[in-house]
Amino acid sequence: MPEPCEENTVEFHNVARSGQVPEGVVRRLFIGEVEIAVSRSEGVVYATSNYCSHLDCLLSSGKATEDGLLCSCHGSVFDYRTGEPLCPPATRPITVFPVKEEDGRVWVGMDDELAKAAMRRRAAGSRRLSARRPSEVGGEVGREVGREVGREVGREVGREVGREVDAE
Ligand code: FES
Repeated sequence: MPEPCEENTVEFHNVARSGQVPEGVVRRLFIGEVEIAVSRSEGVVYATSNYCSHLDCLLSSGKATEDGLLCSCHGSVFDYRTGEPLCPPATRPITVFPVKEEDGRVWVGMDDELAKAAMRRRAAGSRRLSARRPSEVGGEVGREVGREVGREVGREVGREVGREVDAE
């Protein structure tokens, strides 16, 4: 059992060679079981949890932009240093880890608190998914895809109608 005033020490882990994290790319890496997104923007390396705080999309599928870490699912952008969302729909921050780059290697700091925070996903959604049969989960995924396709089709139809109206 930890002492009440015991200091929680951050331990740095070598996660990659510097060349494995080029400008603009987001890498999916692991420290033990903790999944992290490591990116480089304007020469600086950053590390965050790999789950978007909106709907848990993997941030390693996104992009490291000069504004922040872009989630490819719905366009939220997160501040590299604070993890705060800069663009909706995400409203909650992602976990940010300390990073050192030394001797051509990238080191990411981790302690128990950071590890717990990084593993946390949308609690209600995770519970709901784990309690359901795969066929139900598939149905939910299909409905979400359908809604997104419907929105895109709606936008395209709206643009087309607008062009026709403009042409008249
Ligand atoms: S899951 Fe990332 S913006 Fe929606």
